[in-house]
Amino acid sequence: MKHLLSVDDLSRGDVEDVLDLATSFLAVTKRDIPKVPALRGKTIVSLFFEDSTRTRLSFETAAKRMSADVMTFSVATSSVKKGEGLRDTVGTISAMGIDAVVIRHSSAGAPQRVTEWIDASIINAGDGRHEHPTQALLDIFTITQHRGRDLSGLKVGIIGDVRNSRVARSDAKLLTALGAHVTLIAPPTLLPESVESWGATSSLDLDSVLPELDVVMTLRVQHERDAQSRFPSLREFTKRYGLTLERAARMRPDALVMHPGPMNRGVEIAGAVADGPSSVIDEQVTNGVAVRMAVLWKILGSGGDVV
Ligand code: NCD
Repeated sequence: MKHLLSVDDLSRGDVEDVLDLATSFLAVTKRDIPKVPALRGKTIVSLFFEDSTRTRLSFETAAKRMSADVMTFSVATSSVKKGEGLRDTVGTISAMGIDAVVIRHSSAGAPQRVTEWIDASIINAGDGRHEHPTQALLDIFTITQHRGRDLSGLKVGIIGDVRNSRVARSDAKLLTALGAHVTLIAPPTLLPESVESWGATSSLDLDSVLPELDVVMTLRVQHERDAQSRFPSLREFTKRYGLTLERAARMRPDALVMHPGPMNRGVEIAGAVADGPSSVIDEQVTNGVAVRMAVLWKILGSGGDVV
């Protein structure tokens, strides 16, 4: 595997590989010295043109735990502020001699474009409203820890600002490819235009679907991408689509509550639900490091023993 741009790049075998590797790397991250020499001598650039907390930090942590050298590019203090474009920026970085670029950009398709300009491996860490493949992998890894590897028939609801969510698109496509049933639950204005191409079904009525769900995945309302102009008020949104304590009480007792973060507590999810017994939100973050170690190893590793 040279690049990871979309979940469409992943075969079922690739997903199985990532889950196996992530299991090994998760054990590594729990050791006293959570580090392996697997990627010694490799240089990985983290190139984030959009804000991020967990994705950037977990990629950088993953790279460091595998002994790679990490270059962190910070847009706010770079020549992007002087008007340098994406092509020149990546060209400059590439000229320094690098092996992989982890890129997040507000334009859908930006990571794909970069593959045409430089030789390094490109990993998409989120491009506009398009895709976020490593989030889908870490979500699936988290689900399999609780439900086992066979996801066929698993009922997953993805709730809220689906239209703006690259997480929702990558998750829905990969989960359905693995046999799960995905329902996108949102007001009509926050549903994507072509739900079918995601392999999912849709519903406007959270209360009727919620009691059947095995996985309840909530999403942030993305104000920066025009979401709030698409419904009357946040209060109204929370009333119909928020995972409140009262709603959570009507979930299956073994349902998993997920959120890719960042959360707006009290809007799409109540704080008490996010911190409650069904929540695996912290596990998602922990698993993010192990899954990104697995992806980096699959792309840059020698194929030999990992640990
Ligand atoms: C998401 C993203 O950036 O796509 N967060 C993440 O990577 N964990 C979701 C969001 O911004 O709401």
